[in-house]
Amino acid sequence: MSEEQRAEWAARLRGLYSRPPAEWPTPDVDSSVAWVEIGLLPEPPHPANNPFSKEKADLGRLLFFDPRLSQGGQMACASCHDPDLGWADGRTTSFGLNRQPLTRNAPTVLNAAFQKQFFWDGRAESLEVQARHVMLNPAEMAGTEERVVATLSELPAYRRAFADAFGCEDITFDLVSKALATYERTLVGGHSRFDTFLRGRPDSLDDRQIIGLHLYRTQARCMNCHHGPAFSDGNLHNLGLSYYGRTFEDLGAYKTTGKAEDVGKFRTPTLRNIANTGPYMHNGLFELPGVINMYNAGMPTLRRKEHQAEDPLFPTKSPLLKPLSLSKQDMSDLLAFLDALSEPPRRIRPPELP
Ligand code: HEC
Ligand code: HEC
Repeated sequence: MSEEQRAEWAARLRGLYSRPPAEWPTPDVDSSVAWVEIGLLPEPPHPANNPFSKEKADLGRLLFFDPRLSQGGQMACASCHDPDLGWADGRTTSFGLNRQPLTRNAPTVLNAAFQKQFFWDGRAESLEVQARHVMLNPAEMAGTEERVVATLSELPAYRRAFADAFGCEDITFDLVSKALATYERTLVGGHSRFDTFLRGRPDSLDDRQIIGLHLYRTQARCMNCHHGPAFSDGNLHNLGLSYYGRTFEDLGAYKTTGKAEDVGKFRTPTLRNIANTGPYMHNGLFELPGVINMYNAGMPTLRRKEHQAEDPLFPTKSPLLKPLSLSKQDMSDLLAFLDALSEPPRRIRPPELP
């Protein structure tokens, strides 16, 4: 395509995508997929058994930044979900207690409110349950319910904050996780250039980004999994990255479900703010251009070795992945679109702890 043709193509796409999303070109999505259009984020949902209150969110904010939730006061949630690092930690894989290396990359907690299962393998069904897992995990915060409750109960300011939030001075582990989850549900973005575009400003995306948006929804097939306002279907898929039988092996959801079909399955992550949260994938072994290259090739296909001929656990890659025939220019346009999903970090100061 010549420069001129590209500019014409971008202008045509800009016209199409300036219309209401219901009139956008049909995406390239397989018939098995119940897709939802990408778009503006709704209000974050708060569950009936843990409704929002400002007092609860304020308390959760203190707890999120408080290293006293961990053994020896070594680390807070914010140590690995650092607002200055896109609410992740910028590392390939995180360091846990006593700097022991963990096996997975820390995902962002920004927009986590919109997920329906948590962790890379979806093993926690709510943010409340997720918070309990981390506080008690011996490799991470290595707490016990009793110690967390005892530590907080010693501090009069926390007793008051719990009383304000929950109407009772008795601190329990359950209330700690509820306050943390409520705070996390306030960590919601929605000010990317793509959002501005959707709010009726067709010039907030440049030509590359408009072409990238169209590729994202069509030839690149990203909409098969990264759809809806949070750019995630919330489901588990096998991308061929389980490293089955090799160094870095991670069996994903299988580790909790024990089902052969779950070997190597991971939950689709959000792509909002993706440029701020590298490196990528559950193992943090990739940069964005590498990720796009792999998708273009249809993702790695593992071949059975002789001794694996009858292996019932041998992982099968998602049939939604196919070689995409994207040119270098296409891949660079796609990256430009992903860039438009990131918003400037909201700089915040950690709260003063009680
Ligand atoms: C030592 C680093 C570390 C600390 C401390 C930590 N996390 Fe995480 N967090 C991680 C890693 C790594 C994962 C991914 C683990 C996995 O998927 O197996 C994760 C996953 C999550 C997720 C899931 C996000 C998603 O999209 O599924 C949430 C939410 C979360 N952490 C919240 C918290 C909260 C709340 C705390 C404090 C109570 C906390 N984390 C403390 C490293 C950490
Ligand atoms: C079959 C479903 C599926 C399709 C199609 C798909 N993805 Fe993904 N994507 C996932 C899953 C699942 C992961 C996490 C995999 C892992 O960590 O092992 C992921 C991870 C990613 C990541 C890393 C995110 C992070 O926080 O580390 C990026 C970037 C990404 N996808 C972009 C894309 C783009 C761009 C397309 C289109 C070219 C695409 N994906 C198509 C399911 C899919």
